[in-house]
Amino acid sequence: MEPKNNDKQIAGEEAVKFIKDGMTIGLGSGSTVNWMLKKLGERVKEGLNIKGIPSSLKTERLANELGIPLTDFSEVAQLDLAIDGADEVDSRLNLLKGGGGSLVREKIVDMAAKELIIIVDRSKVVPQLGAFPLPVEVLPFGWELTARNIAKLGCEPIIRKKEDQVFVSDNGNYILDCKFSAIKQPEILHEDLKRIVGVVETGLFIGMGVKVIVAKNGEIELLK
Ligand code: A5P
Repeated sequence: MEPKNNDKQIAGEEAVKFIKDGMTIGLGSGSTVNWMLKKLGERVKEGLNIKGIPSSLKTERLANELGIPLTDFSEVAQLDLAIDGADEVDSRLNLLKGGGGSLVREKIVDMAAKELIIIVDRSKVVPQLGAFPLPVEVLPFGWELTARNIAKLGCEPIIRKKEDQVFVSDNGNYILDCKFSAIKQPEILHEDLKRIVGVVETGLFIGMGVKVIVAKNGEIELLK
């Protein structure tokens, strides 16, 4: 059989099947989510009545282009469902996220949802988190000191850059990409990082009771 390389699209489109009329949806970020948004935009044009809260400025722009109605937390206390991507998913369905730099808004949106569906291709499913450097969002003020304190936890934080300029998140902060040799205890690492002044949030999404839609060679598998 010919291998399919559109697994992100397949996972993204599959997630739209979980969206029901009248729902308020958390809209994640990243290339897999973009496929979900495209399909959702089609459904909205066909008459599906939903509202979304975007987890990044990029998602907000795309949702607007696709005609997906948006709202925000001044109007909504809880989302019915959030759909988001991930950089890694471990065997306990803990997530490592933030490769696209949207981890803080993603965590706010994902945690506000009654149900969270993660969409990935099979390459993201790993036995243990940590091969992907962990994104940690930090305040720009004193970021070098924050980075030195993070390094004491056993990694070498690298300031994220884009085209030679320091990358600035949607929240005006910096991202440190932190390569640990392995993340054996994600809960503890998350807590240790959050205790460091200057750390805004980490890309570890732990114990969130997610459902994961995994696409591999065109086939869908549901992990939960
Ligand atoms: C954005 O900051 C991330 O958390 C994304 O959800 C993650 O990087 C997945 O992105 P892709 O779907 O583009 O692989």
